[in-house]
Amino acid sequence: MNEMIEKAVSHYRELLLSQIARAEGMEKKTLPEKKEKTVIGVIGGDGIGPLITAQAQRALETLLKDEIAAGSIEIRNIQGLTIENRMEKGKAVPDDVLEEIKACDVLLKGPTTTPSGGTMESANVTLRRELDLFANVRPVSVPEEGIDWMFFRENTEGEYALGSKGIEIPGLLTMDFKVTTIAGTKRIARAAFEYAKNNGKTHVAIVTKSNIMKKTDGMFSQLCHEMAREYPGITAEEYYIDIMTANLINPAIRKKFQVFLMPNLYGDIITDEAAQLQGGVGTAGSANQGDRYAMFEAIHGSAPRMIEEGLGDYANPESILRAAVMLLRHIALPEKAEKLEKALEKAASLCPVTGTREGHTCRQLGDTLLSLL
Ligand code: IPM
Ligand code: MG
Repeated sequence: MNEMIEKAVSHYRELLLSQIARAEGMEKKTLPEKKEKTVIGVIGGDGIGPLITAQAQRALETLLKDEIAAGSIEIRNIQGLTIENRMEKGKAVPDDVLEEIKACDVLLKGPTTTPSGGTMESANVTLRRELDLFANVRPVSVPEEGIDWMFFRENTEGEYALGSKGIEIPGLLTMDFKVTTIAGTKRIARAAFEYAKNNGKTHVAIVTKSNIMKKTDGMFSQLCHEMAREYPGITAEEYYIDIMTANLINPAIRKKFQVFLMPNLYGDIITDEAAQLQGGVGTAGSANQGDRYAMFEAIHGSAPRMIEEGLGDYANPESILRAAVMLLRHIALPEKAEKLEKALEKAASLCPVTGTREGHTCRQLGDTLLSLL
């Protein structure tokens, strides 16, 4: 037993040192220079990923035809972020694939499968860390109900930072860790309050469980409240995650929310709930933003069951197409983003894809969309 305790303590020491180095690195960061050419990397991923991503790529190629011809934008396909290749190399993101990804500026990424259990980290979590994509930004809107929400989920810390590096005392117990840094909290809070200020929003809901997670959420809460004082026109209110999940399904209350700001895991859970109110996780796009890179993706997973059941062609590409809309906005092409968004709404109503054989196929939606661009 003593030996096991010693092993766990020295493992913990390594983790602590790595997190201190990360926190210090964040404070020292310098911003990249602007480049003349924007490289968009397209990563198909696993399961339904390559099928839905192909439709988004076609839409981008059509919309960006002139920029691609002029050489100011390049669309580059990145292979190798598949579960087979990752398992073979024994790495969540194999080194050569990571290098190719880092040579791009923005990424459109299909869902990737994460083996449950074992020690292989999710490719998403690895990429968010390696590219330092600290803000997970997810819009949800249900216009007929007056719902227009923007979620700012911290994307590199919390339970995710060391999620595959926990401790096990076999036959007795397991322990995972949750990490919150001052710099990591401030930068996500800044992003949320700046978004609120620049978009005429007057309310930011800070979501935590600071009554229980006293150190991590306690500090997150305190820093967010401190930052709120720099934004006089904006009211910041804190809600615990449990009651917030209830509020989101309470029609009398949910309309008042505008911007949400929260640590990683709560954001993961609550954005799926919010997406469901909009029509399902298949309809929601997601942006992972950092200072140097940004990665846009579907909010849902790779749906291996759909592939096993032969339903891949019926997968809904709407979520990744919404991610493409966000990508266009991010690279400062708001008119093209608007065009894609409008066309997508029309195509989705003409050609509903339900994920079953009764619905249209992914490709049919893509064809209809292209005819509208
Ligand atoms: C998400 C997903 C990911 C997460 C998975 C795929 C690792 O659920 O982007 O919300 O948990 O963050
Ligand atoms: Mg999720």
